[in-house]
Amino acid sequence: MKSNMNSVLLEDERVDGADKVTGKAKYAAEHSLPNMAYAVFVTSTIAKGNIKTLDVTKALAMPGILDIIYYGNCPTVPGYLTNTAERPKNVTEWRGYKVLYDNKVRFFGQPIALVVADSFENANAAIRFVKADYEIEKFETNFDKARLDATLLKGPISYKRGTEKKYKEATKFIEAEYNIPIEVHNAMELFATIAIWEGDDKVLLYDKTQGPKSTQSTVARTFGIPDKNVRVITENVGGAFGSGLRSWANVAAACIAAKKLNRPVKLVLTRPQMFTLVGYRPQSWQKIGIGADAAGSFIGISHEAISNSSRYEDFREGIVDVSKFLYACENVDTKYSLLPLDMSTPIWMRGPGEASGCFALESAIDELSYQLKMDPIQLRIKNYTTVNPENKLPFSDINIKDCYTYGMEKIGWKNRPMVPGSLKENGMLIGYGMSVGVFGAGKGSASVRIVLSNDGKLLLECAVSDMGPGTTTSMTKLASEAMQMPIQKIKFKLGDSDLPPGPSQGGSGTTSTVGSAVDLACKTVQQKLKEMAIQYAPAFAGSTADTLEVKNETVLSKTNANASIAIPALFKLANQEKIDLTISSTGKTAAQLKYTSNSFSAHFVKLAVNPKDGTIKVLNVVTTGDAGKIVSPKTARSQMLGGVVGGIGMALTEKVEMDHSTGQIMNASFGGYHVPTHAQIPNTDVYFVNKPDPNVNDIGSKGIGEIALIGFAAAIANAVYNATGKRVRDLPITPDKLGFKKTKA
Ligand code: MOS
Repeated sequence: MKSNMNSVLLEDERVDGADKVTGKAKYAAEHSLPNMAYAVFVTSTIAKGNIKTLDVTKALAMPGILDIIYYGNCPTVPGYLTNTAERPKNVTEWRGYKVLYDNKVRFFGQPIALVVADSFENANAAIRFVKADYEIEKFETNFDKARLDATLLKGPISYKRGTEKKYKEATKFIEAEYNIPIEVHNAMELFATIAIWEGDDKVLLYDKTQGPKSTQSTVARTFGIPDKNVRVITENVGGAFGSGLRSWANVAAACIAAKKLNRPVKLVLTRPQMFTLVGYRPQSWQKIGIGADAAGSFIGISHEAISNSSRYEDFREGIVDVSKFLYACENVDTKYSLLPLDMSTPIWMRGPGEASGCFALESAIDELSYQLKMDPIQLRIKNYTTVNPENKLPFSDINIKDCYTYGMEKIGWKNRPMVPGSLKENGMLIGYGMSVGVFGAGKGSASVRIVLSNDGKLLLECAVSDMGPGTTTSMTKLASEAMQMPIQKIKFKLGDSDLPPGPSQGGSGTTSTVGSAVDLACKTVQQKLKEMAIQYAPAFAGSTADTLEVKNETVLSKTNANASIAIPALFKLANQEKIDLTISSTGKTAAQLKYTSNSFSAHFVKLAVNPKDGTIKVLNVVTTGDAGKIVSPKTARSQMLGGVVGGIGMALTEKVEMDHSTGQIMNASFGGYHVPTHAQIPNTDVYFVNKPDPNVNDIGSKGIGEIALIGFAAAIANAVYNATGKRVRDLPITPDKLGFKKTKA
């Protein structure tokens, strides 16, 4: 088995790479407009209650201040109206908090006013002079404490097949609890919105979002205007990891201010506000029970989970879902409850619930392997299935065993000690660990405009976004393959809601969904070219389209080597300037729905634990993906590398620390919230099976954004156990949890 990666790197550049590294690529906040005003949020200093009075007089007198918008002077926002008779017909009741609109405080750090000034500096200088007088209410932010009170829980949502808690009857079983703290996305690019009203009911936005269409529809609903009157531009996104899957307070607030002041308003969140205003991975508690017979066959799996939401919205994700189908097992029961807290609403964060769930499940399987005295990979193979045991449908394709073979060899699995804590290298305790990840491979509907011009250039357009995975590159590559023409002649345009509708970039679905539309659009254009050739080029007179092919920018006959016409020449003969079509592709076909589709990953880690202080150094990582055909090897590899970095953060460093006496996040900065540094990221080998999945869609490609991260933290936890004999079930794995006390430096 060999890696597909290394040989292709140099000929596989990102099509927008040069623009990004030279600064030519513009992000939302980098746009500047004449007469633009700058807005900064003032945020609450209590977790729950009402604002009795808000004194803005001092702040208003500061230099350059144009306005301070708050509940006392906020113009009517149609979508926020509670009276159904007043509310526009297409607008349903508002579920989130109403920014700047009412005097309620629902979490610490909630926007309570917006200072608008002639410069960012002036706006920022005035915020501390806005004084709020609060009526404080009793609040709860302590997940660990509150989850023990069953009356506070919402749900549960339950699932069962076979017998509940069957694992308890198994020869060997594990029952253990796992805890994951709040983690934040905090991508490099800050959330930013520039709003420009072009009339009373028409607005243009530059916005950081994963979904130009979804932001368009949210803004239309908020302001009671037609979708077509909202244009959202988001040409480049500097990372989002799920935080851009909905519009946050910055979008509505910028729109409110721009309308009130009748001038463009730019609102950029601060780094600390990125911790409180744009979602996070919810805190979770999980309990896994898993048992096997002496040969290792799973007898039962029970998976219980509680994760937090806000008090004003329910946010659920797939935290227990993987346990239902990843392994063959007849008896499975799951239970998932929500714990509403006085905090802002969480949102999907890379891998989302499956990443939390797989930490627990993949740790538990490792624990069970020691009980059974079985190799953990052999235990997984023992319970391997090609049919999804939850919906009984065959997987459209599954090659996870190839991932095991590659990873075992490359990480040096044969050196893994069977007895934990028994291997030392250079005075360090050495451990090996592995884990599996899985995520659904969906395919939705998308439309693509395709324009082939008589100069031979191809333009494709879709209102999707590219938050960093390289969608622009992968779509260009797909078009290049489908059209059999050079990448240099193709342009893929995205990031504008005026383009034909595409999905939000999320759930690892963009390549499958938009890629299928691109593929169909290219095939449709090829068909048109063949028809044109038959109609206008004498060499093809009387031919049928199926005897022709289009490649190298030429229409060719498959049966007559002398019949060929270059595309520009064909356009000339036909007296036509271009082919310009908008093509839509839909979700899965009936044939594709006979299968269930997933992407799979397996992660392998070798690490060292310092026996003196418990510090952990990841020495080597092999990460593998089974996601069908890899469209763009370089950007795909980068996604897997990003998953490793995020996974090391999740496993070893990341945790939001709350002060439960105030409800405030104590470490809302990159000084206090620790993401891995370069020195913590080891040599990483990325491998893809890279085999087209014949049953998932026409392009054979599945997503990798989530599987890059899902499971990874368990590989680390499993390796730490292998190195030390200490099982850490609470992330992040810090030296104190390995039983090391602080010693003086
Ligand atoms: Mo992803 S968590 O669906 O952006």
